[in-house]
Amino acid sequence: MATLVVYYSRSGSTKTVAAALARGVGGTLRELVDTNARTNLVVAAIAALFRRSARLVGPDYDVAGYETVVIMTPIWVGNPTPAANTFLRTVDLTGKKVLIVALGESGENLGTSSRLEKMARDRGGQVIGVHHIHGLNSSGKAGPSATAEELQGQAQHLADVLREPHSQES
Ligand SMILES: Cc1cc2nc3c(=O)[nH]c(=O)nc-3n(C[C@H](O)[C@H](O)[C@H](O)COP(=O)(O)O)c2cc1C
Repeated sequence: MATLVVYYSRSGSTKTVAAALARGVGGTLRELVDTNARTNLVVAAIAALFRRSARLVGPDYDVAGYETVVIMTPIWVGNPTPAANTFLRTVDLTGKKVLIVALGESGENLGTSSRLEKMARDRGGQVIGVHHIHGLNSSGKAGPSATAEELQGQAQHLADVLREPHSQES
């Protein structure tokens, strides 16, 4: 089962999980690189809030050789990141199993989940799961950040999820 792990990461936590997951399942890792480094967090937050797209560096939307596509994004102000928006608005996921993973400093964010799920379904994907992972605490309000070990553990859990049979749409 060929798996593609596509991710955007500004501060590295999503990258840690994505890289460990791709290693764990023998999949291909593909980073979404935003031409905007998003150093201004207020501007980054506004872009996410207004559900803007990003311009990506050398974008590759081809998922033809893969059975499963994992799409990973941090949560920004209750929304996917602009880079994830661009990917999900462009890619053709017809016939693909799609696992969505959102990282945030707090717990589950049902609004972000359902938005990501709808975006993947709108592109023809069969969503086999939506997972939330505790990432880095960037605001100082949500308790400690996840450790590198915890992020690796989450990747292991996701690898186990991908190994389960997914014959029916969830
Ligand atoms: C602009 C901005 C907005 C954020 N908004 C949220 C949020 O609404 N909910 C949440 O749980 N975490 C929020 N976070 C925290 C990130 O989702 C979290 O730190 C994540 O682990 C970052 O992933 P990365 O290290 O791969 O960039 C926000 C972070 C930034 C920079």
